[in-house]
Amino acid sequence: MRKLLNKLLIKFGILITKAPVLLANQELSTSDSFPVELTEKIVVDAPTDTPDNELFDIFSSDTDVHKWHHYFDIYSKHFEQYRDRPIRMLEIGVFRGGSLRMWKNYFHADSTIVGIDIDKSCQAHEIADKNVFVRIGSQADPHFLNQVNAEFGPFDIILDDGSHKTHHQIISFGALFRSALQDGGCYMVEDTHSNYWLKHVDSGETFIDLAKQMVDMLHEPYLGRKETNFRQGHADAVDQMELSYLSANLSGIAFYDSIVVFDKKKRYLPKNELR
Ligand SMILES: C[S@@+](CC[C@H](N)C(=O)[O-])C[C@H]1O[C@@H](n2cnc3c(N)ncnc32)[C@H](O)[C@@H]1O
Repeated sequence: MRKLLNKLLIKFGILITKAPVLLANQELSTSDSFPVELTEKIVVDAPTDTPDNELFDIFSSDTDVHKWHHYFDIYSKHFEQYRDRPIRMLEIGVFRGGSLRMWKNYFHADSTIVGIDIDKSCQAHEIADKNVFVRIGSQADPHFLNQVNAEFGPFDIILDDGSHKTHHQIISFGALFRSALQDGGCYMVEDTHSNYWLKHVDSGETFIDLAKQMVDMLHEPYLGRKETNFRQGHADAVDQMELSYLSANLSGIAFYDSIVVFDKKKRYLPKNELR
């Protein structure tokens, strides 16, 4: 029955992702070579504690923020480094404005926090005299994103907590990573569990599918090369190479439950030494 449903979804273009079986069946599927010891089902409990960190305390003081509890350790791990200086942050998805206020309280007092949302009523959450700004438009509109970047960017942190539609996550990343994110900046996409819920999947490949391809792109310098091409002082060593923009500016990707983090940093060719 599920196979038939899957076929129908694909036939009518409702499901066109590269991982159709997993998405349609809503069951984990791994390849034959995946270690079987690691797929044995074990019982997992609901948490009994709340996160023990400062940001979670700020979150708890404002009832108008919508965040999953397990995100707070991830935010702290990636955002702590930006707290000692004024930064520019863009959050896609304002909702009731609570997260904009939360970021304002968490980061340096002179930071600029910008929220964008398609819902006009979100404009009410702007606090201009505290450098909290709201602009109304769609995360799927590159022209609008360029305008926001021209007005407030480039940003140190971009957080996508918008529509959670896979198509939108992809467009926003494409429009913002290159031109709107500072070197040394962080691009975070949250609620990527939406990529596993059919109602949010509206693209041939999901955002997670693309993020997996970016893991390959991190390794682009090695494609068609050998170790001596990177060995200091070796006759085979190369001192320049053409890489895709993303490969040349992405220092790392971190995957978490429902969050993917991209660290932007101009890269140099990898180098090794054999002494
Ligand atoms: C999950 S809520 C944001 C929650 C908020 N960041 C928080 O933590 O409290 C998602 C928001 O995205 C907005 N949204 C939906 N589609 C959008 C789009 N295409 N562009 C920008 N925002 C959109 C919705 O109006 C909604 O306010």
